[in-house]
Amino acid sequence: MGEDAPDGVHVIRHPLVQHKLTLMRDSGQSTKSFRQLLNEIGMLLCYEVTRDLPLEMVDIETPLTKMKAPVISGKKLIFAPILRAGAGFLDGMLDLVPSARVAHIGLYRDPKTLEAVEYYFKTPQDLGERLVILMDPMLATGNSASAAIAGLKKRGARDIRFVCLLAAPEGIAKVRAGHPDVAIWTAAIDDRLNEHGYIVPGLGDAGDRMFGTK
Ligand code: URA
Repeated sequence: MGEDAPDGVHVIRHPLVQHKLTLMRDSGQSTKSFRQLLNEIGMLLCYEVTRDLPLEMVDIETPLTKMKAPVISGKKLIFAPILRAGAGFLDGMLDLVPSARVAHIGLYRDPKTLEAVEYYFKTPQDLGERLVILMDPMLATGNSASAAIAGLKKRGARDIRFVCLLAAPEGIAKVRAGHPDVAIWTAAIDDRLNEHGYIVPGLGDAGDRMFGTK
């Protein structure tokens, strides 16, 4: 598995993230644990993807004195999970940033062409004034991520970051070629895609493992 991150890609090597990811890869993990771990990693990745948010000073009063203290400046963030597996990150991220707005992006992968097909797209209105954090655990072919980014841009988004759990080199190349302005945060870059578009070694179908479907 690649150690060197390509341009615009942040690999989060925090031990807690790596440990939890290993547990998730293990096919013996229960649906309940898989979902719980995805939620926990979502929180940790959220911490990393928001690391450089700008701050502004505000006047407050502690029980002892007045002071100026930092708060995050600008409009509330937008979290944008790609359904359905992206929803697995959402609760963990909202636990850290409860005031974030949420966009839902419904895309499925045509099993033959592996192209993304849009079936739902609901976003807050002022996309252009907010940082949009797009999320999907698996960046495989990059087709869904690219379609979601294009859909967000079409609706006015100008500042987008993409968070995933595992990325394939093919998916990274596709997203970065089509949208060089969108940086990627991932817990690992795996080896390759197989002939069905699954990430290898990967963790299987994230949606199925989260929801206990097949
Ligand atoms: N989607 C998944 O859930 N898993 C993969 O390996 C690729 C796409």
